[in-house]
Amino acid sequence: MSKNPVVPYILIFALGIGLIFFMSLYGIDQKKEIADADGEATEEGTKEDAGASSEFDAEAVAQQKCIGCHGGDLEGAVGPSLHGEDKDAKELHEIIKNGKGGMPAGLIPDENIDAMVDYILTLK
Ligand code: HEC
Repeated sequence: MSKNPVVPYILIFALGIGLIFFMSLYGIDQKKEIADADGEATEEGTKEDAGASSEFDAEAVAQQKCIGCHGGDLEGAVGPSLHGEDKDAKELHEIIKNGKGGMPAGLIPDENIDAMVDYILTLK
């Protein structure tokens, strides 16, 4: 069997490709970690951040997504005041989920709507 002189080069080549592949996977992982750390540090929500139900902060989300229409202290502007609601939790849940008139549907991920309703019901 004659030794092919090209074989060592092919081996080194294959090793190099493998290394590049491995490093890019590692890089993707790190990128995720950095993105996660960023999300925690800034608290500024993308929709995804607000979707993490365990960290859902109804007041902070209201400040981002609701004050534009309901006024800075949610006491009413384009939309009605959310203080002293006479509607019950079920009705409020429906309105936030499905929208109503000028109120857009789907501003809050379904699993966080109850937390938002609870918050609204604390507003006197
Ligand atoms: C684009 C403007 C707009 C935004 C943004 C908005 N709303 Fe509204 N909202 C309205 C309007 C207008 C109404 C009145 C709807 C109607 O009764 O016809 C309303 C009604 C409501 C009601 C029912 C109040 C009542 O007593 O009838 C609730 C609860 C509510 N909004 C919650 C929210 C929450 C929570 C957010 C933020 C996630 C939000 N809204 C963001 C415009 C808006």
